[in-house]
Amino acid sequence: MVSDKGSEESSLLTVEQKERESFSYRAQTVAYARHSLNRESVTSIILNIMGTEVKNTDTPLSLKKFHISEDYGFILPEPLTELPVHYKPWMDIARNVTELISSHSLRLRIHDMPLLETHLLQTHRELRLAHLALSMMTMGYVWQEGERETVKVLPRNLSVPLCEVSRRLGMPPILIHADTVLANWKKRDPDGPLSMENLELLLTLPGGESVRGFFLVTLLVELAAVPGLKSILDVINGVHYNDVAMVTKALDVVSQAIDSMKQALKLMHEYVDPSIFYGIMRIYLSGWKDNPSMPEGLVYEGVQEKPMEFSGGSAAQSSILHSFDELLGVQHKGDSGAFLRRMRDYMPPSHKRFIEDISSRPSLRNFVLQQADEHLTHTFEQCVARLVDFRNCHINIVTRYITIPASRARQLRANKQGLVDELDAIRKAPTALEERGTGGSGIMILLKTVRDETKDIYIPHCTNGNQVLPDAPMTAIQKAASELTIE
Ligand code: HEM
Repeated sequence: MVSDKGSEESSLLTVEQKERESFSYRAQTVAYARHSLNRESVTSIILNIMGTEVKNTDTPLSLKKFHISEDYGFILPEPLTELPVHYKPWMDIARNVTELISSHSLRLRIHDMPLLETHLLQTHRELRLAHLALSMMTMGYVWQEGERETVKVLPRNLSVPLCEVSRRLGMPPILIHADTVLANWKKRDPDGPLSMENLELLLTLPGGESVRGFFLVTLLVELAAVPGLKSILDVINGVHYNDVAMVTKALDVVSQAIDSMKQALKLMHEYVDPSIFYGIMRIYLSGWKDNPSMPEGLVYEGVQEKPMEFSGGSAAQSSILHSFDELLGVQHKGDSGAFLRRMRDYMPPSHKRFIEDISSRPSLRNFVLQQADEHLTHTFEQCVARLVDFRNCHINIVTRYITIPASRARQLRANKQGLVDELDAIRKAPTALEERGTGGSGIMILLKTVRDETKDIYIPHCTNGNQVLPDAPMTAIQKAASELTIE
């Protein structure tokens, strides 16, 4: 078994190494990709313009090919908890980022850190732990003194190994969802279940139990999606073989998985405190793109003289919703489409390729329309309704964790009231992030547009079309939100 894992890892590494150039550090300055279309892509564009889209009819699609686990989906199975001893100086700091930030000594410790070569990192899981550790240190280094005393340069003993590891993985040199959630967990009791009680984080950031809750609840959302992810293959194969029963059955599983994801998402309310999330945690997830606190980006010393810009960590970088959107045919256009497409560069490259593969397949929605089968149409509609429902639930969460605290922070600053401790955190929260997500988006417009674009794919003539699953009665949060004028 052990040797299986070893060979799986090294073959994964080889593929990932091949892909390492896929993330272009110079993408911001050199739009070369746009100018170097090969003959196939030109043909494809011409055919698309003519309305004869080229569709991938290869079959079958396999999860293994895209390094997606049967049991864990996009989650990294059994992440390593230790690096080879050579990298002890990194791990010693990474394990203490929170304490070092609160004693204002993280930057000093990083200045004293030796510049280590990365060639002793051999397996995919070693690289993932190194990326998690180095990018956590990076967030702490940049944001240690809050939004007003940021830095312009990341020192070479951190930036050089971070960029090397990132290049080998094909991931950006910043903390991303694939680090904090997908590769940052372990079971307390190895034989126990994957439950909140039995899970813990490998590395953490300021915010105590709320950080644990935020990353682990998101992990549970990823886990809840796994049966649906596996059924994507059956949907695609069912369409390929014109098998209506197969597609219907598989779509039903997708629909149930989206519902389970929503149930998991709601656990956020139990495990994450909004004022801690808003006032303390968020800044450490923020990036240096579209962020007024770091308008010039960040120089990665020893890598490139020109500053680089990268978005911060966000679950918009999770491959789950992107996969379901592509399967169902949800089209995101304009700014929100551009934002979501950009987020795909913040995923492990093989997961991004999986999403692209789904989108290259013949349209499921057209299949549903052509078949005009009542049961199939109903199941498709149900699936869309569940996705809309998930997005509504997410909007409620964002309202509670960002919109309401942002409004309260403005009020507190304006009134200069005497403050109790929990409100103090909100008052001190970074103002640059007030109406922005950690991924750098303008929040509510983006989320509502994306939700409405999901509704657009309901089957037009269907009697139950455009009927979202019954909404829960208006909660206090929604009421409060409806009184705000954030947009
Ligand atoms: C306290 C919990 C959460 C908050 C405050 C939150 C906040 C946000 C914000 C502000 C955005 C806009 C993009 C950005 O700039 O980051 C966003 C997008 C997104 N988030 Fe969350 N999020 C939370 C939990 C989750 C979880 C657990 C998931 C599940 C995987 C998730 C999935 C998404 C997706 C897929 C998007 C892209 C928009 C879409 O496809 O609907 N979020 N989130």
